[in-house]
Amino acid sequence: MRLTIPVLLLAAAAILALPEIGAAQQKPTAAGSAAVPALTGSALAGQKLAFSRKKGNCLACHTMRGSDVPSNVGPELVNLKALFPHRKDLVAIVTNEQARNPQTVMPPFGKNLILSAKEIQEVVDFLYTL
Ligand code: HEC
Repeated sequence: MRLTIPVLLLAAAAILALPEIGAAQQKPTAAGSAAVPALTGSALAGQKLAFSRKKGNCLACHTMRGSDVPSNVGPELVNLKALFPHRKDLVAIVTNEQARNPQTVMPPFGKNLILSAKEIQEVVDFLYTL
């Protein structure tokens, strides 16, 4: 009998705390999406090309910010300015990754004309926002 009241109080406290736990879990997501910069101009055009199934379809293989599709055929595309400070290197990868890695499964978007030279520039503008 002496234990019943504290146990009940603990249970009540746990139930009361539940909404708090839910709220705390949602906070990082809300803060994270607020930090994503709004895209404009060619970077926005590049994002549309990258996410389009008929064009880049990059999401089939890469996880990219701005989409909630997780893919791990290729590496997550993030921090690309630090990884590829020279724009021509990124253009070369999107144009024809087979030149760098003959075994790659990544389509040569420029070589097979899935993306025009202008579209590749737009995709690279978008990649530099990641
Ligand atoms: C069929 C899968 C596939 C698709 C579609 C694809 N990629 Fe890739 N990508 C890869 C793989 C696998 C790699 C790893 C390197 C390799 O295979 O040579 C890669 C590597 C890369 C890299 C180099 C990243 C690094 O850290 O070395 C970039 C940048 C990149 N892809 C951009 C893109 C973009 C932009 C698109 C869409 C226009 C795209 N990829 C579409 C599979 C894909």
